[in-house]
Amino acid sequence: MDPAATIESTPTARVKMEVFGCQMNVVDAELVLGRFKGLNYGETDRYEDADVVVFNTCSVRGHAEDKVFSRLGALRPWKKERPGRVVAVMGCMAQREATDIRRRMPHVDVVAGTRDFPKLAGLVDRVRGGEGPFLVIDGEERPDIERSPTSRPRPFQAYVTIMRGCNRPCTYCIVPTVRGREISRPVDEIVDEVKGLVDDGVIEVCLLGQTVNAYDGQDRGRTTLGTLLRALDRVDGLRRLRFVTSHPSEFNDDTWAAMAESSKLDRFLHMPIQSGSDRMLKAMRRGYTVDKYRRIVDRVREVLPDMGIGCDWIVGFPGETEEDHEASLRICEEIGFSQSFVFKYSPRPGTKAAEEHADDVPTDVKKRRNRELLAVQERVSLAAHRATVGETMQVLFEAKSRLDDSKWSGRNPQHRIVVAADERIRPGTIADVRIEDATALTLFGDVVALR
Ligand code: SAH
Ligand code: SF4
Ligand code: F3S
Repeated sequence: MDPAATIESTPTARVKMEVFGCQMNVVDAELVLGRFKGLNYGETDRYEDADVVVFNTCSVRGHAEDKVFSRLGALRPWKKERPGRVVAVMGCMAQREATDIRRRMPHVDVVAGTRDFPKLAGLVDRVRGGEGPFLVIDGEERPDIERSPTSRPRPFQAYVTIMRGCNRPCTYCIVPTVRGREISRPVDEIVDEVKGLVDDGVIEVCLLGQTVNAYDGQDRGRTTLGTLLRALDRVDGLRRLRFVTSHPSEFNDDTWAAMAESSKLDRFLHMPIQSGSDRMLKAMRRGYTVDKYRRIVDRVREVLPDMGIGCDWIVGFPGETEEDHEASLRICEEIGFSQSFVFKYSPRPGTKAAEEHADDVPTDVKKRRNRELLAVQERVSLAAHRATVGETMQVLFEAKSRLDDSKWSGRNPQHRIVVAADERIRPGTIADVRIEDATALTLFGDVVALR
């Protein structure tokens, strides 16, 4: 290695990055931080040390946007405190509300949309040189935005975006508007990226896409997610592989077969149902009935019997009755999901649901339905967790336990949290753990052997 490359020069400025929204935003934030590094900017966690603040924003629910506006407002005094400070906004809300952000928050210097964010660091640098403000939201759809493989949250884990955008017609959802048409990255490029990550110490990769099982490698007809899984199965040193989020209608036989063959695939599939009522599913234009969803779950369990299935739900979609809601409670119990994220319906301007229907389920009813669904999930999880007491399972340890720092917290193949104490554990250790105790959220066990 060139010895000069190992000498860190003093950064010209420090960036505080704040990420809202989904994993895709986490990855995009890493990318932008990589670009800043290339311009010799450093990173900081503290606003008081920062010269640049970047918000990577989300539009999926109204609440996510309100939070960003209020946090942006709070940056006014921060910016005044030291001349030359820069505020930049990227992500889905930057795309959707660019002009509104500039109008309501004139102290924002750079707004970069979901296809323009790779330019953000360069634009911030120009603002520091006296130019700007900049607003860029009309870039082309392109999936091949490279990354800096050294910046990621944990050295042994990485998220890899394999496609961008979404072509589905879900009536409540803003994602297709803000992220654009679906576009996949080619298999070779992803495999190269994963190999690079593995050379850099990564053992677990999670593939990201809004409808990840619709992946087509830009080669419609011949390539499927299965093709990519097989290619990644051959990457030496990669130990665990996951993909999110799957849409129930987008699976194909080749992908099922590749999942069954894979030696690295985790036993966790995030496949939201959204509602247990056919009437609601139809109004949401999800493209399946409850019965079809059931049959897909049967297929999953036929292929991989020990698969854990995670779910998203929307409660209080326009017109949702108690009967519809009860159907959701029933199917949650029946399927036995391993995890549920429950969201209160939030009308998104411009979506079909918001244009055509009043948001007619009162907030307190949404809150109650939310609680009830989570209570069913908790019961289901507790029963499933208790049933694992006495079993031995493989765990990838991630970090010290948040509740007790003499213990370590990790994930089993079903992506359930497992806590254990053993002085040999380090971040990234894989071990066989015998489960001794369980709550609805966590399994507790003892290390039997290191892997
Ligand atoms: N592409 C993924 C997830 C997209 S957004 C999928 O199709 O499953 C993540 C979750 O947010 C969705 O699964 C849905 O449950 C929720 N969501 C999306 N739009 C919403 C809205 N307008 N109001 C409330 N929840 C919403
Ligand atoms: Fe939104 Fe539906 Fe696409 Fe998911 S599949 S991102 S919920 S439109
Ligand atoms: Fe939010 Fe955009 Fe992700 S709207 S959920 S950050 S794709």
